[in-house]
Amino acid sequence: MPKQGKRIKYFQIYRWDPDQSSRPTIATYPVDLSTCGPMVLDALLKIKNEMDSTLTFRRSCREGICGSCAMNIDGANTLACLARIDPATAKSKIYPLPHMYVVKDLVPDMTNFYAQYKSIEPWLQKDSMENKVVDPDGTVKENFMNKADRALLDGMYECILCACCSTSCPSYWWNSEKYLGPAVLMQAYRWIADSRDEKAKKRLEYLDDSYKTYRCHTIMNCTKTCPKGLNPGLAIAKLKKRIATSALA
Ligand code: SF4
Ligand code: SF4
Ligand code: FES
Repeated sequence: MPKQGKRIKYFQIYRWDPDQSSRPTIATYPVDLSTCGPMVLDALLKIKNEMDSTLTFRRSCREGICGSCAMNIDGANTLACLARIDPATAKSKIYPLPHMYVVKDLVPDMTNFYAQYKSIEPWLQKDSMENKVVDPDGTVKENFMNKADRALLDGMYECILCACCSTSCPSYWWNSEKYLGPAVLMQAYRWIADSRDEKAKKRLEYLDDSYKTYRCHTIMNCTKTCPKGLNPGLAIAKLKKRIATSALA
């Protein structure tokens, strides 16, 4: 097999170290694609392992499951482990998720995002014994739902909370303290749509708010960018409809 020559691509990467007083910089790293895996995460790992061990980014699963490698690659929010390196271009620009505080380099501060997720109480809330399977000692083993009800959760339960959608949403950029953003709103609706959950009214009352939900102006950047192919914009539309048609007096 003939030996392949070098195929150099330049990765221009946002760098900022909170322990240095200097402003953020862009560092350029030449990567030989003939000795690199096919994904942007492969290039980042190669840079860190072979060129600059101080380069900081999050990653864990490297297969689009953990959501930790979310970043802005050539202008789009996506997962570095699912983003193929484009061999046709000479340069690639990599920044942290936009409009987030930065901890270091490509690591965004997710504190507000997780606090917002916690605020929607993302767990099953059910007081009655309906459709529960209980052990003789009283331990609840299962909460049944039928197949049709279960199917209503498709397209929402798969969310990995990477925040690519929320950080691509202009409304979230300007109101992230008060607007919950598409990722959290879709998860809020995921629990409202769950036939086993008995707290839909309480959940809807919490969300019936001009900032928490109604800062969404249906721009749909969220759906366009989701690296898992989900549709948070549609979930928000369903949530608004549910609020509008529920008697929340
Ligand atoms: S909806 Fe998509 S982009 Fe948004 S957090 Fe979930 S997986 Fe990420
Ligand atoms: S539909 Fe538009 S405004 Fe609403 S969450 Fe998505 S990007 Fe933001
Ligand atoms: S490393 Fe887990 S989603 Fe990319």
